[in-house]
Amino acid sequence: MCGIVGYIGARQAKPILLNSLAHLEYRGYDSCGIAVLGAGLEVYKEAVRVQALEKILPKNIDGKIGIGHTRWATHGEPSQVNAHPHCDCTGKIAVVHNGVINNFQKLRQQLTGEGHKFLSETDTEVIPHLIEKYYDGDLEKAVAMALREVEGSYAIVVMVADEPKLVVARKDSPLIIGLGDRENFVASDVPAILDYTNRVVYLEDDDLGVITPEDIKVSHGGRVVGREKHEISWSVEDAQKGGYAHFMLKEIHEQPKVIRDTIGGYASVTEPIASLAMPGDTLLPDVLILACGTSYHAALIGKHILGELLRVSVRTELASEFNYSGPISSKSRAIVITQSGETADSLKAIKRLKEAGCQVIVITNVVGSTASRIADQVIYTRAGPEISVAATKSFTAQLMALYWLALPYAKVDIRRLDSLVMGLRQLPSKVQQVLDNEAVVAEYARQLSKYENVFFIGRGINFPVALEGALKLKEISYLHAEGYAAGELKHGPFALLGSDTPVVAIFAQDNTYEAMLTNVKEVKARKSPVMALVEEGDEAVQEVADSVIALPQVDALFSPVVNTVALQLLAYHTAKERGCSIDFPRNLAKSVTVE
Ligand code: F6R
Repeated sequence: MCGIVGYIGARQAKPILLNSLAHLEYRGYDSCGIAVLGAGLEVYKEAVRVQALEKILPKNIDGKIGIGHTRWATHGEPSQVNAHPHCDCTGKIAVVHNGVINNFQKLRQQLTGEGHKFLSETDTEVIPHLIEKYYDGDLEKAVAMALREVEGSYAIVVMVADEPKLVVARKDSPLIIGLGDRENFVASDVPAILDYTNRVVYLEDDDLGVITPEDIKVSHGGRVVGREKHEISWSVEDAQKGGYAHFMLKEIHEQPKVIRDTIGGYASVTEPIASLAMPGDTLLPDVLILACGTSYHAALIGKHILGELLRVSVRTELASEFNYSGPISSKSRAIVITQSGETADSLKAIKRLKEAGCQVIVITNVVGSTASRIADQVIYTRAGPEISVAATKSFTAQLMALYWLALPYAKVDIRRLDSLVMGLRQLPSKVQQVLDNEAVVAEYARQLSKYENVFFIGRGINFPVALEGALKLKEISYLHAEGYAAGELKHGPFALLGSDTPVVAIFAQDNTYEAMLTNVKEVKARKSPVMALVEEGDEAVQEVADSVIALPQVDALFSPVVNTVALQLLAYHTAKERGCSIDFPRNLAKSVTVE
């Protein structure tokens, strides 16, 4: 959701703001804008992408302090007036905001009654007007007073024409300060500022910061507090396309390395990566796994991994639904999976779990993210920055975390354990084999791109893979795709089958194989073209399916990894064939920081 940036220092702000915003576009990209303070405060914004804004900006915007925003619309359509920055009546105060102000209507009414004039439909616009109301030459004080009236979530950067400083604040939306040499940066997310610095300070909820070129001051509840400085290990190259046509393709191809890095990191320490056992208990507790979107599909696969290896009962829920569900047992071990560590529904679920006395393990890719800071234990994945809106490598890394989490407690004999560890270590080369077969998948994608509706089916540990394959296809190619448990197809969706509705069938060499084969025959009898993902050497499926993608042999427990990578390529090439905006699909954003 919305990306925000700020700069203060000795350099011209405009190019830095635009460059930082371009790196943040995965958070939202329906409009963007900047405000720069030179002789006066100048604001430029349009309902266009950052590159297009750059082209229409005057060349000579002179100023060394500035803020910027790239928007994912919540209140009001994408338009020039609704784009940020938003200003007060005097045009001297400018604000960029990420989050949602819940009581904006009441505040807007009040402020209108007091003579303030509003231009946009956004919730954000109440913030500059509230600050204006309290401003008497001290921006920090005015922001603090304004925020006392605001209910909701926010990360904001504020500037005023009369003071050479930026004031920042956060509550339930991420915000970091990047530390430079006599210059400082602000951003929602690390990739925005990697070109300039790798030293950052993560703000906590209810922090208020004042930033000048030489100094940052952070206060909390009116008291100045010290916030730890962190060094980011991600490099500038990690956040660039590196010669690939799209971030998504680069990230798909990075997966052998991501698996190696993630497993290698875990293997380098001798203790379990997190303790599943509850303190003082010898028996493993029930496990509850929560997540949203693609991470939820990793959770569903996790249910099979933990269930099979640990023989415990595992419950999975969408974090967004869990927040409306009944009582929570404090005896469960909870795992929350979130790539970004900032998904609003997942954060709400963590807070709810903790209030109920549950110990929460978070699996996340982002060091210092909100989820990592409120969890009891954190398992970091080592996927590097994921820029493409569609999650690929972060999903694979999440699976690695789940495998490695279960292994120390696995109730399997030593031979099976050894073979699983060996299988995990071989996964990078197995995934590489899938990637080497890209041309074949791309050819099938060309055929798939002609249809409008597609079903994905799988059973057992590969049912979530069907969900993930369908999600990936729909989000980037805009084809209507549904993931179904293969056994459920005949309970309704059969009515939709026919020669114009292909079915992608995902096989594994496990106890689901025969039933899947029967399902494919039933589908064929309804004339749907079938594309099957099978293990190399499989002949039975080949006889019935119209086309097959042959995948390297792996233990069935690892089949979701190779199957998903093939489906990522299928989605990518289908979207490419259809000329879609692959890295920035319409209406989406990478980090979903609103409920
Ligand atoms: C889909 C996708 C989303 C995310 C979801 C959760 O490709 O990326 O479905 O998986 O928004 O995000 P995180 O994992 O950051 O909580």
